[in-house]
Amino acid sequence: MLSIGHVIVPSSLVLAPMAGISDLPFRLINRSFGCQLAFTEMISANSLVRGSKNTLKTLSASSEKGPLGVQILGADPEGIKMALDVLSAYSFDLIDFNAACPVKKVVSKGEGAGLLREPAKLQKLLKCMVEKSSVPVTVKIRSGWDETGINAPEVALRAQDAGVSGLFIHGRTRIQGYRGEVDYRIIRTVKDALGIPVIAGGDALTPHLIKKLFQETGCDGVAVARGALGNPWIFPETAEYLESGTASFRPDVYDITRTMKEHLTLNTAFYGEKTGVVLFRKFFTWYTRGIPVKGLKVLAFRAGTLDEMMRLIDEVQALQAARDRGFVSRNEPLPSPQPPERFGL
Ligand SMILES: Cc1cc2nc3c(=O)[nH]c(=O)nc-3n(C[C@H](O)[C@H](O)[C@H](O)COP(=O)(O)O)c2cc1C
Repeated sequence: MLSIGHVIVPSSLVLAPMAGISDLPFRLINRSFGCQLAFTEMISANSLVRGSKNTLKTLSASSEKGPLGVQILGADPEGIKMALDVLSAYSFDLIDFNAACPVKKVVSKGEGAGLLREPAKLQKLLKCMVEKSSVPVTVKIRSGWDETGINAPEVALRAQDAGVSGLFIHGRTRIQGYRGEVDYRIIRTVKDALGIPVIAGGDALTPHLIKKLFQETGCDGVAVARGALGNPWIFPETAEYLESGTASFRPDVYDITRTMKEHLTLNTAFYGEKTGVVLFRKFFTWYTRGIPVKGLKVLAFRAGTLDEMMRLIDEVQALQAARDRGFVSRNEPLPSPQPPERFGL
């Protein structure tokens, strides 16, 4: 269980924000496998204020059940206040502030992980968000800027003083980006110093690594990011592993292709056929990791219609079935995609 302010979540596993990934279809798929607390991708405060069409699409959450946080990015207090005004028309459960994004274009404006170099400024911004927001505010940080600037404990204490209700920490520096070792020790130091919930992240890729994050850091929750790409099963598998020490369920090709079809159907319902198919292409590769269908992956990157993509998914199943006649026969009927109504789209 995880309590962030008044938001109580039965599971301590969280779906982390991922730009270009954490849209409504992705969240719905993960929720259908037991994910409870999820986040939108980061949204720049300025684009919220401008009300750009793409940004407003990112805020779509109408058919979603379960707590949802929106993540915002910025460094200008006035812009952030105006962004909170825009968000007050929506019903998010949490507002998370991004002080972790390592991208050059972002940090060069003093945003994202750039704020780790200005802890006093970050504290002020958070205080102003907490004062203005009607829902709990959280913050996402990294261990520091670089290995000589590990300052997560100071930043975290300042965030707590500003009144945030929870802290997400990716145990890598800005310079490390998404590579290199995750610093469990710094996460533990932060956890020991704070009274608010600390949610750890960094290489939460398997049930075993997630358990290690809990054990080594004493954290209250773990944020799953890349581990959920094409793998919503990480939620039930990890829940089982944390409870019993074993993970007995692994999806077979039927489970995988059925979920691919559901995801694709949600994508096209949400974005329209063309965009929905194009945005699904990368998921085709992620879902089929470990299945030797290289040629199909190449074709998926050229697929332009729903029919084409559906046929490629059927091919994945047929190819795997041919390889593995022990558990699946070529003649078995292919599962039909779940209608989007199941998800309220
Ligand atoms: C493609 C991609 C996009 C991401 N976008 C965001 C984002 O919008 N906001 C954010 O706070 N973190 C973002 N992250 C970072 C993840 O939320 C997470 O902290 C990071 O990947 C570490 O977890 P992992 O090693 O388990 O993947 C992104 C990561 C990836 C791979």
